[in-house]
Amino acid sequence: MSGPDTLFTGISQLVTPHPGPQRGKAMSELVVMRDAAILVRGDLIEWIGPERGAPQAAQVVDLGGVAVVPGLIDPHTHAVWAGDRLADFEARVKGVPYEEILALGGGIRSTMRATAKASVEGLVALARPRLQALLASGATTIEVKSGYGLDFGAELRMLRAVRELQAEFNLVPTLLVHVPPTSGRAEYVDGVCRELIPEVAAAGLAAAVDVFCEREAFSVDETRQIFVAARQHDLNIKVHADQFHAIGGTELACEMGALSVDHLEASRVRQIRSLATSKTVATVLPGVSLHLGLPAAPARKLVNGGACVAVGTDLNPGSSPLFSLPLALALSVRLNGLTPAEALTACTVNAAAALGLGDRGALVPGQRADFLALHGEDWRDLAYALGGNVVSGVFVGGVKR
Ligand code: NIG
Ligand code: FE
Repeated sequence: MSGPDTLFTGISQLVTPHPGPQRGKAMSELVVMRDAAILVRGDLIEWIGPERGAPQAAQVVDLGGVAVVPGLIDPHTHAVWAGDRLADFEARVKGVPYEEILALGGGIRSTMRATAKASVEGLVALARPRLQALLASGATTIEVKSGYGLDFGAELRMLRAVRELQAEFNLVPTLLVHVPPTSGRAEYVDGVCRELIPEVAAAGLAAAVDVFCEREAFSVDETRQIFVAARQHDLNIKVHADQFHAIGGTELACEMGALSVDHLEASRVRQIRSLATSKTVATVLPGVSLHLGLPAAPARKLVNGGACVAVGTDLNPGSSPLFSLPLALALSVRLNGLTPAEALTACTVNAAAALGLGDRGALVPGQRADFLALHGEDWRDLAYALGGNVVSGVFVGGVKR
């Protein structure tokens, strides 16, 4: 534990992207400082520089000669759910496609049935260890979506569970409009716009509204309708798009100034161009490619085209049971073609931008003092190791967690 005015020393290598969203070539421009020190005041970085010449501080914490990077930011999770998807998983590995399971009333719909039955306290208890795992892996800020509520009451319970967990973790809540009911979908979308979004906005239960725009979920027109309502209530917008089919969700989101478009496994030239020419962050989720055996999102092409790319775990029971953000980072190098430097930028400042946050993700004075001490002296371990113990200390607002 450390309070205000703490000087962290023993940093063999301090590595950080520049603050703010980085796009294209700039994603690989990291600042590397040898034998560095960080002065923390309150929960912010006050000063960074060479250890020789560091200012005096009330206390000094020697990290022991290791690499330090910014705390990682997970811009996409569904960490609140009840039930499990083990039977789905077994069916899928025997060859039944994810979308077919969903179309038959299983998949996301089975998680909805289990989640709708759970109380807020029950959901909190289920989500806590998942968030603890993500935090221990190095995720100092985590987005969490609703979306497994069958009805609006269950959606609100999910978001209340996130609100309770905000006392223990840095969470950014998102209202996810996930799959439509099997009948009465026009009324449902109308209800989302006229009841659910206003209620969520009034109670401050979400920072953004996300829609699953896909053949088996919501159409582009329905997504637009929901986005318009979100905007009317001053909520940011995000979308799950191009996971299986590029039906136009990416283009719509870029046009409407969404914070991010997430998935992109089926994106082609047109969608890449939309993202490269807009401010919308392209969030790739390599855990989904691994777990569902889907093609990987074209992150290499997105970066080459000049887009701002982020990486997330998409932690959820159906498509990505991935409880480690460093593993997502490492997979984005193998599966999506990012370089280690780009992947670090994608998991820090760009992930922050995907959440509309500008106060974290880079180690510079004025930013939140969220950082990771690694086990080794070279930060590239973070992108190299697949699992294992790369992170030795997780500091949130300058306090060891
Ligand atoms: O991000 N694609 C839609 N939603 C989630 C999966 C949810 C689930 O399968 O439970 C996703 O992949
Ligand atoms: Fe998702």
